[in-house]
Amino acid sequence: MKKILALILAGCMVLSMAACGGSETAAPTEENTATTEETKEEAPAEKAEETAEEVAAEVPAGGKVGVCIYKFDDAFMTTYRNALQAILEEKGYEVSVVDGNNDQAKQTEQVNTFITQGVDALIINPVMTSAADTIIAAVKQANIPTVLINREPTAEQMAAYDKLVYVGCDAAQSGTFQGEIILETENKGDINGDGKVSYIMIQGDPENIDAQLRTEYSVKALTDAGMEVEQLDLQRGDWDRNKGQEIAQNDLAKFGDQIEVVFCNNDDMAIGALQAIQAAGRTVNEDIYLVGVDALDAALNEVVNGNLTGTVLNDAQSQATQAVACMEELLGGKTYAEGEQSVYVDYVKVTPDNASEFIK
Ligand code: BGC
Repeated sequence: MKKILALILAGCMVLSMAACGGSETAAPTEENTATTEETKEEAPAEKAEETAEEVAAEVPAGGKVGVCIYKFDDAFMTTYRNALQAILEEKGYEVSVVDGNNDQAKQTEQVNTFITQGVDALIINPVMTSAADTIIAAVKQANIPTVLINREPTAEQMAAYDKLVYVGCDAAQSGTFQGEIILETENKGDINGDGKVSYIMIQGDPENIDAQLRTEYSVKALTDAGMEVEQLDLQRGDWDRNKGQEIAQNDLAKFGDQIEVVFCNNDDMAIGALQAIQAAGRTVNEDIYLVGVDALDAALNEVVNGNLTGTVLNDAQSQATQAVACMEELLGGKTYAEGEQSVYVDYVKVTPDNASEFIK
């Protein structure tokens, strides 16, 4: 077992602060200036004359981290994984990021390979949350601190191992924000004034709680506000732009002007739907509304241009920062009690009023 003093010290510092306190709580300088057997070997005597910042920039923290992503070919997870890798590398970790190709058997094998290689910690974006039990059993047996990200298993599944934490967002909140964006339009989504909001729902992978809760809570925000709703269609688009385009195209052909709102569980599908909307000669914010989630750069530009009614920031940078902070706490010896194993980052509602603030 390869436990490194620097990591333990970093974890202890973090422990004295709020739970998974974010980037400031685990500043690279504090962490990397801690002495370790490994960093001693790699930091020759002349380094003593350098400033703490210079040492922090040069000396790796020394821990090996395995990162498993459900599939690289996912727009949001690409932003997320790049943020994660940058944060970990900047902190001096040796990072290996692998592509699960949306294949749970493959990912389970990747987790086992990382365990055999003796990684110090794992960050896993499960392919299927229903398979989380297998992953959790494997990391528990190997005693590897593990952070699950983006796809949340149940509290019962996570309770099996106390060196395990989930970092993500409260998916219900993003759905509520989508509904609120529609309620904030001049006609509250009822463009044709017939007393009800007629919508189509383009869903992510329904195995995923984000897809389930966004679908439910976007509509719930409307009904809670007293609006009558009519669901013309609900189809799974599996988070995929092309599928979003196809579903919207078919529905526009079938339901035409009846469609007042297109709810998409994520931005990539919304961008696909936008292509279909434009091809059908419809105009967003005039004769149809369109909302997504994630605040991908492409979507933010469309919000600014008036081609997307709104989106919801799914804050990849903050989630990556939290995931690393939690990982460092686990490495420092922290354990999580049952029912306290989910750490959430807030979503932010994005409309033309604030969209430009989020463009990088
Ligand atoms: C994002 C989607 C992404 C999915 C992957 C969701 O939180 O909104 O864009 O495809 O995570 O699991």
